Amino acid sequence: TPTSQPYRTGYHFQPPKNWINDPNGPMIYKGIYHLFYQYNPKGAQWGNIVWAHSTSRDLVNWTPHPIAIFPSQPSDINGTWSGSATFLKTGIPAILYTGINTQGQQVQNVAFPKDPSDPYLIKWVKPHDNPLMAPTPQNRINASSFRDPTTSWLGPDGRWRVIIGSKVDRKGLAMLYTSQNFDHWVQSPQPLHSAEGTGMWECPDFFPVAIDGSVGVDTSTLAPSVKHVLKVSLDDTKHDVYTIGTYDHVKDVYTPDEGSREGDLGLRYDYGKYYASKTFFDGPKNRRVLLGWINESSSVEADIKKGWSGVHAIPRQIWLHRSRKQLLQWPVKEIEKLRGTPVYLPSKVIGGGSVLEVPGVTAVQADVEISFQVSDFSKAEILDPSWSNPQLLCSRKGASVKGSLGPFGLLVLASKDLQEYTAVFFRIFKSKDKHVVLMCSDQSRSSLNQQNDKTTYGTFVDIDPVHEKLSLRSLIDHSIVESFGGKGKSCITARVYPTLAINEDAHLYAFNYGAQSVKITSWSAWSMKKAHIN
Ligand code: FRU
Repeated sequence: TPTSQPYRTGYHFQPPKNWINDPNGPMIYKGIYHLFYQYNPKGAQWGNIVWAHSTSRDLVNWTPHPIAIFPSQPSDINGTWSGSATFLKTGIPAILYTGINTQGQQVQNVAFPKDPSDPYLIKWVKPHDNPLMAPTPQNRINASSFRDPTTSWLGPDGRWRVIIGSKVDRKGLAMLYTSQNFDHWVQSPQPLHSAEGTGMWECPDFFPVAIDGSVGVDTSTLAPSVKHVLKVSLDDTKHDVYTIGTYDHVKDVYTPDEGSREGDLGLRYDYGKYYASKTFFDGPKNRRVLLGWINESSSVEADIKKGWSGVHAIPRQIWLHRSRKQLLQWPVKEIEKLRGTPVYLPSKVIGGGSVLEVPGVTAVQADVEISFQVSDFSKAEILDPSWSNPQLLCSRKGASVKGSLGPFGLLVLASKDLQEYTAVFFRIFKSKDKHVVLMCSDQSRSSLNQQNDKTTYGTFVDIDPVHEKLSLRSLIDHSIVESFGGKGKSCITARVYPTLAINEDAHLYAFNYGAQSVKITSWSAWSMKKAHIN
């Protein structure tokens, strides 16, 4: 990237300029992937929101199209906010989205392709009976907390169902509506689900996952062989959290499994920056794909100066882990097309206090996979029972704090003299009856520029390090580090803005600052080619 724009990405989705946020209405139609997204055509800050549109054949390279949905009716004249696509019984997609009406209220609208024979779905039309769902004095819906319709699903009774994010006081709500014809919608007497104390639920997503294996299933699938996932985007903390549970299609309620919580102590798709995500079912490839928005960690002034804000994460395949207690996520296979010649390094014991450079890759734009094996656990540090917050533990015990088993991992987007680096690493602790693996992404040294948010992120990884290797994959792209621990059990995405470790001056290292040696059983790295994006 030009030195004037060192933070633009090589293979993460972004438009040429301006503000972007949520992915909207993702789908595959006639072999073409469609991605719409919240976009401000007029600047690098949120505002003037329209649905921009790009299409792709591989989820890697993207072609831009004209703005698809923009304010044009009283029911959306003040903004066309987030929403989702649903394939109707005819096979033609419909989009439900939130409009901001003449009175500033949030209402739900529909749009249809003008020409369903066009695989690119360039033009969208809106019927005159919009909005289809709206707050009224009778239903007492809060007109400023009623948004982001999901993909609809069809019940065995032939009725469509959709949920809309909402809240009542501090109780987050997934409001349910049903319809026979996708035109006349009726509010159900109770929400699909709600939870006290969680605040506004933005961008809900509700979908089935197969109990066995990594294949995806269509959103309307109801069978004993599936469980359901409800994801909500917590407006208060800007975290995407999910539970795994059971959907009772007769009562039309979702119940999270025992022990599954919706608040911030529950499960997150990503323990770094990742928000307003949404899945779709990719029928031809039989998988469910997750798209998400990654906001900046820089100041608004910096965003305005560079002329853009926001990127999308690499699309992830998502499926249920065999424990049925969490999801697994992995970058879609297609991204590997961008890998250059691989650099495979021989396995190696890495002693305490060592830093080893991974040579021969363009470290500013790379994909790296590394696995560690620990054989002697006798000196593992004891996990203090009060250390229940992994993010806090990672910030107290950052990369520079020496331990016993760890920190070991990668230093990415690092300058030659290690004045700047982002550290992605593990630490192993011993608790009462088992070992506990902590995964951290430490941004505190990522940039000499003090204006950025350099919060450290962290999570526990549900892995037994005695029997399994600790694997880490990081997708590095100029100002983004997307890391996958334990083969997709724990993900952490960070935005960083190095001042020295830019373009050719970025380096990649493996490190071990623990007192104990660990073995790198495999490490592979690839320079990533630039994708054709917009
Ligand atoms: C989430 C969100 C949605 C809303 C949209 C507006 O980031 O706030 O709730 O529809 O963005 O751009």
